[in-house]
Amino acid sequence: MAEWAKKMLWPAIHALACRFCYFAPLNPYRCGRLSPIRPLTPSPIAPVNTLANYNFAGRRAVVRVDFNVPLDKDLRITDDTRIRAATPTIQKILADGGSVVLLSHLGRLKGGYEKKFSLESLRQRLQQEYGRDVLWGGDVLSDEALAAAQALQPGQVLLLDNVRFHPEEEAGNEEFAQKLARLGDVYVNDAFGAAHRRHASTAVMAHSFAPQDRVGGLLLQGELDNAQKVLDNPEHPYTAIMGGAKISDKILLIERLLDKVDNLLIGGGMAYTFAVAQGGTIGNSLVEADKVELAKRLIAKAEEKGVNLVLPGDSLIADRFANDANVEVASNHAIPQGWMGLDLGPDAREQFASIIQDSKTILWNGPMGVFEMSNFSLGTEYVARAIAEATEGGAYSLIGGGDSAAAVQQLGFADRVSYISTGGGALLEFMEGKELPGVTALG
Ligand code: 3PG
Ligand code: MG
Repeated sequence: MAEWAKKMLWPAIHALACRFCYFAPLNPYRCGRLSPIRPLTPSPIAPVNTLANYNFAGRRAVVRVDFNVPLDKDLRITDDTRIRAATPTIQKILADGGSVVLLSHLGRLKGGYEKKFSLESLRQRLQQEYGRDVLWGGDVLSDEALAAAQALQPGQVLLLDNVRFHPEEEAGNEEFAQKLARLGDVYVNDAFGAAHRRHASTAVMAHSFAPQDRVGGLLLQGELDNAQKVLDNPEHPYTAIMGGAKISDKILLIERLLDKVDNLLIGGGMAYTFAVAQGGTIGNSLVEADKVELAKRLIAKAEEKGVNLVLPGDSLIADRFANDANVEVASNHAIPQGWMGLDLGPDAREQFASIIQDSKTILWNGPMGVFEMSNFSLGTEYVARAIAEATEGGAYSLIGGGDSAAAVQQLGFADRVSYISTGGGALLEFMEGKELPGVTALG
């Protein structure tokens, strides 16, 4: 077929035939099968219905949110980002004249009720957030919860307890999902952070609603739009910065990024496994001994693909894992016994910052050092500042993962980057090109 014919005809034929593409080519998430024209990342599938064009007047929306927020020992919220991030969705439903039943998980638990995992701790904060009373319905399967849901009037909000108090939630149990579905007459999924889970409330219950009554929330949509920007047509130079303790969490993403990025900067604990792969000695630094071969492979692959893989040349090393430890600077390949690398060294942080400042697309996941300790936060701070400066100079920056997102907030750069994702695992899996069950279920 001639090139022009492919361009004109293929999307139309494909849209008719492909169940994932419904409204293609208008659907920005049309699936990767359009690849004869433009190689897209495979199958991030969009919610067919977006919240903005849904009228909630007189409807009772059961909204799955990700209110898995950190709490201190007195059950006070220490970071309310995820609560604030879902507010536009809730407000839109209420403004339309609908009512809201909130479903969420909180924490990882063994099953059964535990006070510290009860969503009741969030109620007051939510009342303040929505500027109205938030009713409490207790356990999701209780008669009280169902009665309260059915009695909701337009403009009212009902909060139910942690869905994970029932092991059927994580098992994705059908029957349990059907019971949850009785709580509303339209299903809204705004829990991007949990969209990689095929749980009863994140995915399975969607199927109890008619296709037009399962809707992606504004946060979910915004997250997908932003991640898609980086996946689809990143402006170059494109720099990814990966950090955190372990390579094992990020292997797939790193491999995938090697097909896309110009620069891949590796910091944090995982850099030491790469240093070992290059023949360095790393003292008592963190290492994944079983990932050294993998690190060698990734180094070779980067070379083959012409990617500028940058490993830190130096580190701040400490004689103890403590903020008041003795600190020295050492080459990453010659860290003495009894010492461990806890942050980028001065050369590495300058080098990382200058590459970032020259970039047009930036993806950051994982801190560069033990930034919770003030003496080892400078590497992370340099990276955050360089990203803010590049963004102000016109670059697009996406930051994901709980730790890097928290670092950007704490260091005060949150308003100076393009987008901070509320997803950890969900964002990684999306960027790896995996299907998100929470999104697919809406299609
Ligand atoms: C998260 O915090 O990553 C999400 O809320 C999902 O939680 P989970 O990893 O316990 O499923
Ligand atoms: Mg998690």
